[in-house]
Amino acid sequence: MSATISLPGTRAGSTLLSVGSYRPARILTNDEVAGPIDSSDEWIRERSGIVTRHFAAADESVVDMALAAGSKAIAAAGIEPSSIDLVLVATVTHPYQTPSAAAELAHRIGATSAGALDVAAACAGFSYALGLADSLIRTGSSTHVLVVGVEKLSDFLDMHDRGSAFIFGDGAGAVVVGPSDVPGIGPVVWGADGGQKDAITMTQSWTEYRDAPGETYPTLVMQGQQVFRWAVGEIGKVCVRALEAAGVSADDLDAFVPHQANMRITDAIVRSLKLPEHVVIARDIETTGNTSAASIPLALDRLVETGQVSSGGLALFVGFGAGLAYSAQVVRLP
Ligand code: COA
Repeated sequence: MSATISLPGTRAGSTLLSVGSYRPARILTNDEVAGPIDSSDEWIRERSGIVTRHFAAADESVVDMALAAGSKAIAAAGIEPSSIDLVLVATVTHPYQTPSAAAELAHRIGATSAGALDVAAACAGFSYALGLADSLIRTGSSTHVLVVGVEKLSDFLDMHDRGSAFIFGDGAGAVVVGPSDVPGIGPVVWGADGGQKDAITMTQSWTEYRDAPGETYPTLVMQGQQVFRWAVGEIGKVCVRALEAAGVSADDLDAFVPHQANMRITDAIVRSLKLPEHVVIARDIETTGNTSAASIPLALDRLVETGQVSSGGLALFVGFGAGLAYSAQVVRLP
């Protein structure tokens, strides 16, 4: 018989060591967005809960924003960048088919011997990537993983599209995940319904754009009511499954950090879960808009920064969006 393959020892768990974020300097009010879509500050606030959002500068890239958030998370974790052995970047707005944003980020941040890959699961991307990080640390394949959610959605918006122009924003959030004797990240519950792929998509593919002279550049397009119905009908059930998988109840939670899709969707999920009063609900969407894969770590960092949550408490993360992909897990707060 040929030689057997040996494996590293497995670990009991992984945990969030730190969080960091980056919000671009430019702030757009609803009044600035409303003109081209014949809308109003009042309508946008009422339908989405959004008051302002950040847009990146023209020369500010997805990797620039990821670097800013990732550097803060690594510094807060108290480790050297060179001890990061895997960089996962959740994004759908890195404007290169290849190479990955993660490869460039690993180089620029000083994670010189890290594996690097992008995770394209839209608004569920951060939770998907966190699930991967936890599994790889538990199997012994990785020790310190930098997980970044970052989007520059402003590059892919049609500011004349009434259905999407007012919802999205730019930003980055990052966490460092490391080994732990006690599990600090619960089992990930994830899935996707590709049968509804047209609910949030692009106006056309790059090849269609190339082959149709005069066509406009591909931008995001969303069937708002379809997405709303799906999120309100399904995401509460995904949250319950994540709580059950981690063996905890809603009463045990200190915070709920859902993807910041729309304040009305958050309210509906909170009602369906019957979350107790003491659970802090992340409502970062008000001043950040919907930043897709970046929204959960951005919202988490806001809760930590403002002292609304304490280290060691339990939080439930749930991401959901294009795909229609979803992902959830219970975590111990850094
Ligand atoms: N500003 C002002 N009025 C608007 C508008 C806008 N941006 N968009 C639509 N309207 C008007 C319509 O013309 C319509 O008017 P009418 O009743 O006089 O015909 C009315 O508002 C309702 O239009 P509808 O398209 O049914 O809007 P809606 O109630 O579904 O709200 C969304 C639109 C996008 C706010 C809503 O569908 C939604 O929140 N969807 C979920 C989106 C989301 O969270 N996506 C992120 C997922 S990751």
